[in-house]
Order: sequence, then structure tokens, then C-alpha cells
Amino acid sequence: MSTISVRWPNGRITTETVGSDWLLRASKAGIAIPTGCLGGSCGACEIEVNGKVVRACISTIPGSKSGQLSVEFSTDPHW
Ligand code: FES
Repeated sequence: MSTISVRWPNGRITTETVGSDWLLRASKAGIAIPTGCLGGSCGACEIEVNGKVVRACISTIPGSKSGQLSVEFSTDPHW
């Protein structure tokens, strides 16, 4: 299994297994990704991974050539 270094919006950097669940791993890193439908249709859970928007509830942690992923919230209407 390959692993990848993930930098979260709170500045923490963790080592994650490629293919693991975004929502679960984010919560372990202290990041609460908002969710709604959990089925890929509402967009509440959108995050940006290396600048690319993904819906966390239907995505898993991808591999990356650089061995690093940077996660940001794509939009945060509350801030
Ligand atoms: S929670 Fe609705 S798209 Fe992910």
C-alpha cells in the first residue's frame, strides 16, 4: 500500500494511505468537512486537493507524483 503526505487546512501534516476515505481521515486530523447528502450530489463536502475540487464524500485519497497533497476548503460561506 502506498502512503502520501497530506497537508490539512489547519496546518497539520499527516501520512495517509492512498485510497482511504477523505471524511474519516479528515476528522482524525481534526478537520470537520461539512456534509449533506453523502451521495455526491449536494457539494457541501467539496474540498480542494492540490487545487482540484473534489467531493470528499465520494472520493478517496489519491496518489500523487510528488508524494504530497495539499487540502483546502474550496469555499467557506461562513467565513
Ligand atoms: S455530502 Fe453531498 S456531495 Fe458530498
